Amino acid sequence: MNTLVVYASKKGSTEKAAKMLFEKLEGEKSIVNIKENSSPTLENYETVILGGSIYAGSIQKEIKNFVNDNLNLLLTKKIGLFLCCGMEENYKKQLKQSFPEELLDHSITDQYFGFEYNKEKMNLIEKTLIKLVTKSQTNLSNILKDNIDKLAMDIQGDIKVGQ
Ligand SMILES: Cc1cc2nc3c(=O)[nH]c(=O)nc-3n(C[C@H](O)[C@H](O)[C@H](O)COP(=O)(O)O)c2cc1C
Repeated sequence: MNTLVVYASKKGSTEKAAKMLFEKLEGEKSIVNIKENSSPTLENYETVILGGSIYAGSIQKEIKNFVNDNLNLLLTKKIGLFLCCGMEENYKKQLKQSFPEELLDHSITDQYFGFEYNKEKMNLIEKTLIKLVTKSQTNLSNILKDNIDKLAMDIQGDIKVGQ
């Protein structure tokens, strides 16, 4: 199975989670930060895993544009989806806002990968907002390794370990 992971990350937590996922994948694989390469080639891949993080309810526009520009081709692939976002209770709603309905219906799995809040990477407005929402002054890290492993298992469901 030839797998491509495409992700967007603003402050690094989605990148961290995407790389943890990538390490779990068997077989031929590639990983692309969509902010560094906005149009990765899809032709060589049977499986594509797409993810990003949520800011003010929206996934990164680079992921939206990539999906919209390649929707027909993506609908011929095995698809997995993931999000990093602070509000787990809004995960499904935010997932629906992030990806077209056809792709959501076509995907074989999706997972919530958790979140991080790193004050050193936030501007003053972001820090104030996050302090209000989380009621916490400290950095928080809650990357969900089990959910990352679950997505890797789901997407490789018909592949024997080591293949
Ligand atoms: C300014 C700001 C706005 C955010 N807005 C949302 C939001 O609307 N919904 C949500 O669930 N999480 C929200 N988050 C949480 C981020 O999605 C979370 O921190 C995520 O891990 C960031 O991923 P990244 O480090 O890859 O950019 C917000 C975080 C910040 C700093």
